Amino acid sequence: MTTTQRQGNPDYRDSGLVFPEDFTFGSATASYQVEGAAHEDGRGASIWDTFSRIPGKVWNGDTGDVACDHYHRLDEDLDLMQQLGLGAYRFSIAWPRIQPTGTGAINQAGIDFYSRLVDGLLERGIRPVATLYHWDLPQPLEDAGGWPARATTDAFERYAEIMGAALGDRVHTWTTLNEPWCSAYLGYGQGGHAPGRSEPAAALAAVHHLNLAHGRAVQALRATSTGDPQYSITLNFHVLRGLPNSRGEGASEAVRRIDALANRAFTGPLLRGAYPDDLLEDTASVTDWSFVHEGDLETINQPIDVLGVNYYSTATVRLWDGVSPRQQNDGHKAAAGGTAWPGSSEVVEFVEQPGPHTAMGWNIAPEGLEELLLSLREQFPDQPLMVTENGAAFDDTVAADGTVPDPERLDYLRRHFTAAHRALQAGVDLRGYFVWSLLDNFEWGYGYAKRFGIVRVDFDTLERTVKDSGRWYGELARTRVMPA
Ligand code: FCB
Repeated sequence: MTTTQRQGNPDYRDSGLVFPEDFTFGSATASYQVEGAAHEDGRGASIWDTFSRIPGKVWNGDTGDVACDHYHRLDEDLDLMQQLGLGAYRFSIAWPRIQPTGTGAINQAGIDFYSRLVDGLLERGIRPVATLYHWDLPQPLEDAGGWPARATTDAFERYAEIMGAALGDRVHTWTTLNEPWCSAYLGYGQGGHAPGRSEPAAALAAVHHLNLAHGRAVQALRATSTGDPQYSITLNFHVLRGLPNSRGEGASEAVRRIDALANRAFTGPLLRGAYPDDLLEDTASVTDWSFVHEGDLETINQPIDVLGVNYYSTATVRLWDGVSPRQQNDGHKAAAGGTAWPGSSEVVEFVEQPGPHTAMGWNIAPEGLEELLLSLREQFPDQPLMVTENGAAFDDTVAADGTVPDPERLDYLRRHFTAAHRALQAGVDLRGYFVWSLLDNFEWGYGYAKRFGIVRVDFDTLERTVKDSGRWYGELARTRVMPA
């Protein structure tokens, strides 16, 4: 990613900034992280139900069985969104609620739940932004090979058809996949996410099949949606800094390698219709990419209305000098055993980021968001963008009066909204911004230990309390002016 000149307040702590009239202020969640009701109304098992039950995989043995109980508290949560003043809600659909085994019969109760959710949003003037896949693959599809198997893309296309027909009259924006980087590399390479496999070649096959699933799903959604929805995919971009190694070598080579795996492995086929040559070369010892069939790239390269951008922090890389102990702190549960970087794991090391950090250990770098948005505009000038996730985990405490003061999260949001505003002023076609997350929830391998919500959830009583950051964000969403 290119660097840009910083302007204005150097710490990104502005207030009073005015956002455009049509700018969307939303908040996001994902099905497995909030819904609970894991065994109700015909829902089948997902890979996260299975994975979270393997000892040692999730902090404290936590699972999504109950989560925020959003499934049963839908109306209360919808009212909360309205009270906050959100313009849009980004949620995901649990595939195993719709097709309990991933193929075959439709579970009408699952469709009914999401239909109620969409109607409830529309009644409250909130735009529904629906993601088809935020990581809860039906377990039987994993048993049949998972994302490294091409047949999973057939199943996904059918699922997209079902959802297009069921909700495509009302959904404002369809997002096919959330962060295929995580599904492929953490699920099948590094192993810290479900299904927990550590097979570098399978991870790259998963990359391709996720890309293909996106293309096929966009076609299926277009064919079945009777409204006028927008189409999108959400990627988690890696904003990279390079350092020379002890021999003074390789800063840009390290960045190039990780950029290829993390960013261009997706934007290449999705937005340019080809995998980058250097990615194919870097990974040649891992796979020959023969899973890419004729016609796949055309299928993947569908026009999309908006590109979803998730951003939390930056990463620093350098070429390993082969002598000093290799650092692997890439912020993604490095302890899980496998590698998230097939073909480059023995070559590149991830270097500890200077602070300040959030409770995830992720460095706080609002300038990285500005750089990313400008860089995407430079690479894909005609592609509208949407920040579909940004936010921070901190260890909140409840004050004696019952409120939840969370000045660090509020500061994080202020600084990243300032960054987004700067990108807007520089001419980036940024359509909106979704804070991660509406609710404290099941944070994957970290279970309930990490709180990202602008609304606190007491996991004993399931009571919701709007945090100070939530009040602040609500004011921004209602007025479009960044509060003091
Ligand atoms: C993203 C995920 C989201 C949440 C945030 C913190 O990678 O899409 O579900 O876990 O990170």
